[in-house]
Amino acid sequence: MVGGPILAGVVGWPIEHSLSPLIHTTWAARASVDGYYIPFAIPPTYAEFARAMDSLIALGFKGVNVTLPHKEHALRYATSASKTAKKARAANMLTFKEQGAYAENSDVEGFFNVLKECFGQPARNGAALILGAGGAARGVVIALRDYGFSDLHIANRTREKAETMASEFDLTVVDWESRNVVIPHTDLLINTTSLGMTGQPSLDVETKNLKPNTVVTDVVYAPLDTPLLKAARQRGCTTADGLSMLMHQAAPGFRTWFDVEAMVDNDLREALVSELARRAR
Ligand code: ATR
Repeated sequence: MVGGPILAGVVGWPIEHSLSPLIHTTWAARASVDGYYIPFAIPPTYAEFARAMDSLIALGFKGVNVTLPHKEHALRYATSASKTAKKARAANMLTFKEQGAYAENSDVEGFFNVLKECFGQPARNGAALILGAGGAARGVVIALRDYGFSDLHIANRTREKAETMASEFDLTVVDWESRNVVIPHTDLLINTTSLGMTGQPSLDVETKNLKPNTVVTDVVYAPLDTPLLKAARQRGCTTADGLSMLMHQAAPGFRTWFDVEAMVDNDLREALVSELARRAR
């Protein structure tokens, strides 16, 4: 398709909860871009996913963000992929080029930029404790290695999943029950589990043992200010919430498809906070 507005979107199942359309339309409006960013609910099989991608390419879409449960499907569908997406074994971005679909994992770049906001420039030698060993944890670990964290500990309820990741990324496994033992030696604590999310059990971490200069981050953004982040701030720690990661992972897609700058700033955050408050009512 030649001419017309720029088209991009996000695919997932379910998709109603996604904040990506709000992020991209906010940036598009700011830059007066003639473009649309559309959410698509695509059933969870690879066949449905591939059919949807073929259709979007035929309609002239520039690319899509990909969320659960299609992140591995995106990598399979792509004809080429970045090193990061291959390492993560998952992609949250597909860019449709003449040569075929190109897969990228901007969750890694997103978390890397959160680290930059919290610590300043990279090449930091420090100890981090990652809670959880799911898809989100993989992206976090790759970003931590890129950033220069040398000493990575991982604790997960299902120990085997932590062990699998540990052998791949050279991590130290900590028993889920022993996670609090590591807290006093941690420069960075990251919750990648769903604990603490509205409707989920709470995350039990001994925040009283956090060093005041520890940075604490949480992938959960509903509620935005999780009990973990609140308690960490009371200890004097710097915190980064799930919205920081969400906004930073969205920027590479917007820049690529709409070809204008995507600023992660307070105006965007306020738009997202209002939307989350509206949904909680
Ligand atoms: P994502 O791709 O978002 O990381 P996921 O792969 O489903 O999602 O991973 C969810 C993480 O939350 C896992 O580490 C999971 O632990 P298990 O591997 O033991 O399932 C963790 N999690 C979910 N509910 C939990 C609970 N009640 N207690 C401890 N960990 C929990």
